[in-house]
Amino acid sequence: MSLWYGGDYNPEQWDPVVWKDDVELMRRAGVNLVTVGVFSWSSLEPSPGEYRFGWLDRVLDLLHGGGISVDLATPTASPPPWFSRLHPEALPVTADGLRLTHGSRDTYCACAPAYRTAARGIARQLAEQYHDHPALAMWHVHNEYGTTCYCDLAAARFRDWLRERYGSLDRLNEAWTTAFWSQGYADWADVEPPRKTQYLVNPTHCLDYRRFWSDELLAAFREQKAEINAVSELPVTTNFVFGGWVPVNHAQWAAEVDVVAIDHYPDQAGIGAEEQTAFGADLARGWAGGKPWLLMEHAAGSLNDGRRWHTKEPGRMARHSLSHVARGSRGALFFQWRASRGGAEMYHSAMVPHAGPDSRRFTEIEELGSVLPRLAEVAESNVVAEVAVLWDVECWWAMQGTHLPSSSLDYLAAVRSAHRHFWRAGLTADFAAPDADLSSYRLVVVPSLYLISDEAAANLRAYVEAGGQLVVGYFSGIVDPDLRVRLGGYPGAFTELLGVRVEEFHPLPEDGTVALASGGHGRLWSEHVHAISAEVVDRYADGVLDGLPAITRHEVGAGTAWYVSTEVDDETAARLLGLSPSPLETVHRRRGDTTWTFLINHGEQEAVAPAAGVELVTGEQVDGAVTVPGGGYAVLRST
Ligand code: GLA
Repeated sequence: MSLWYGGDYNPEQWDPVVWKDDVELMRRAGVNLVTVGVFSWSSLEPSPGEYRFGWLDRVLDLLHGGGISVDLATPTASPPPWFSRLHPEALPVTADGLRLTHGSRDTYCACAPAYRTAARGIARQLAEQYHDHPALAMWHVHNEYGTTCYCDLAAARFRDWLRERYGSLDRLNEAWTTAFWSQGYADWADVEPPRKTQYLVNPTHCLDYRRFWSDELLAAFREQKAEINAVSELPVTTNFVFGGWVPVNHAQWAAEVDVVAIDHYPDQAGIGAEEQTAFGADLARGWAGGKPWLLMEHAAGSLNDGRRWHTKEPGRMARHSLSHVARGSRGALFFQWRASRGGAEMYHSAMVPHAGPDSRRFTEIEELGSVLPRLAEVAESNVVAEVAVLWDVECWWAMQGTHLPSSSLDYLAAVRSAHRHFWRAGLTADFAAPDADLSSYRLVVVPSLYLISDEAAANLRAYVEAGGQLVVGYFSGIVDPDLRVRLGGYPGAFTELLGVRVEEFHPLPEDGTVALASGGHGRLWSEHVHAISAEVVDRYADGVLDGLPAITRHEVGAGTAWYVSTEVDDETAARLLGLSPSPLETVHRRRGDTTWTFLINHGEQEAVAPAAGVELVTGEQVDGAVTVPGGGYAVLRST
């Protein structure tokens, strides 16, 4: 088993004379997999029913001749202009009623029957044409599912979905609490998508619209997958995209793809980008249920988005790629192979920059391409994680509502902060769903799990009773899956487990802090906590909550459940979780008696770590300690 290395390859943007150079350069760089065809619909079907596969035949043959495998994509994320002209009803409508025009990508409504038929059609054509091409290694359906629409076609599908979910309008009215503001529905036809309205929207209506879109897009994915599966046994994937706008439940979708694949573009520069990289990779591994997954896209340098422009300094690209591989990716792929000469993303970095191969960027690409084969043996091993952070996308969606008691409540930020504490201590955390089997973890952190089902709450209780250590963050357990408050005191679903009762929320001003008796502080949020059967670990030490519990501890069965009612500072969190800072990003992988240790140094100073075994990049025997230069990395095998 080798590790995949390569990226999106868009030969339709280039004259065929460039294709030969591309294959030559790919060989030089050690590329062994490219994703072809993601946005090539108008080149494959320039007018309705007129297929031109000749150029793609030549490209696949050339790649195969060069020993490069292909991840062949269906081009359905960008229908050609003729499609939109013939099917204007398939152009998407925004929440405020504006019908978009063709001119970018993703200008379709996946609820439009014409779009679905066309998408299935082009997928079938490609599958029939290429299923036995020797270059093919996998199929890549669509690109970054997540586009939604608020048109009448979507409204009709949404109503069907609601009928299926609730069975009756009475049940829907109850779940959506429509008695508030006279929203009671007496006819299914009155239910619309949550389009732009006068004032605050109904939170459950909005949450259901996201749930609906996740299911609808999944149905669209399944249709294309079925076309491919009818003629091919190769694995089928789609690339998951991160972002608050994406209404896709990736944890659920993961069961439907043959390989979990992600695109990852940190939106921070500096050490934040490194933390985000580890976060994205750990999340992907969580979705994949610990099995190998694939980094389908990341950036060789700067992003296309000028507001987030930052060039990756020497060494940084390799460190990001290796962090993904360390955390379970079967390789490292980029968007894209060759920087475009024109078009909307012409300034997005690429493996071959505008400057050509005689460049620092391409030299680093060649270096990385020579390192990955030396690490291939890690591919079949498992990432070792003793701790977990809970992640639930529905909770994230619910907390994006405009109805919460503080605009500072931010689910993603709370989860990132929990993950960051472990990352800074060089400890690998898994992400797990609230209803997952948690028994293999000694410690589980639950950041702001606002929405939780009874079943998931029972699962967390069972984990603690069996000996687990559970650390529950503020604003957890508040509502059920219909977003209805669990009455009798917060944190609703967790009051008994935590042995506390929260009487009232005390959001803090945006820049405000509250002192803790231990010397630390909280920010963003605080709560009026009563310790009922829990022991008080730390107290608020100023303001209106002065002297009241801030952090509590409750022994339940063989385990312990902690409650942290504010966003504590990093030192307090590290003390609570028993962590100390590590100068190196450290990830262990294991198979049988063999352990591989990735040590990645994001700092400028060299760092020394105890180690014994073989360092795979240099092939040197290490006895006692390894020195990792600033900005460098080492991968050790020990038995
Ligand atoms: C996404 C897309 C790519 C490209 C990159 C860079 O991940 O899948 O087509 O647009 O972002 O912006």
